[in-house]
Amino acid sequence: MTALLLTSHSPQATARYAEIIAAELRPRDVLLLAGDLGAGKTTFTKALCAALGVSDTVTSPTFTLVHEYRGSKLVVCHADLYRLERTGELADLGLDDARRGGAVLVVEWGDLSGDEFTEALTLTFTHAGEAERTITVASRGTTWGPRVTRLFAALGQGAVATPQAGGES
Ligand SMILES: Nc1ncnc2c1ncn2[C@@H]1O[C@H](COP(=O)(O)OP(=O)(O)O)[C@@H](O)[C@H]1O
Ligand SMILES: [Mg+2]
Repeated sequence: MTALLLTSHSPQATARYAEIIAAELRPRDVLLLAGDLGAGKTTFTKALCAALGVSDTVTSPTFTLVHEYRGSKLVVCHADLYRLERTGELADLGLDDARRGGAVLVVEWGDLSGDEFTEALTLTFTHAGEAERTITVASRGTTWGPRVTRLFAALGQGAVATPQAGGES
């Protein structure tokens, strides 16, 4: 499986990646976001929602676990599994229904869903400095196959150039 390693030097750069990904999304897509607290999952989600035409304020669904936003382009179901106490609870969140209804699922702490989603784009956020983050993008399942090539190309072009050691500055 191929993965794309992106570097972000600012919240704005992370938002730009979210916009590029938003442009490829279709109803029923699943994005699983992994990474520590403060790694940028919600920052990414806010920009993704804005790009999908959500005008409501997007807040972290830490306590309610799920928020749904109706964008002009797509409906977004934003979940946060951080407080999920047992995997069985996942089935009670209504994510499957939302997805069947055509929503895009964006799941923070999506790695806690285990193998629940067989089709997904996975994004792993890692701290690499105060405003530096690495974002590893990979896909799971078959529906992303052909699209992921196009997406990786678009993300690669949107990538912020990383200074090379020993290069000009
Ligand atoms: N490159 C970056 N990408 C995303 N967020 C960043 C970046 N640099 C700094 N930040 C800051 O890090 C914090 C990320 O918080 P948040 O998006 O809520 O993370 P999470 O949802 O993963 O806990 C925000 O305060 C954001 O402004
Ligand atoms: Mg968050």
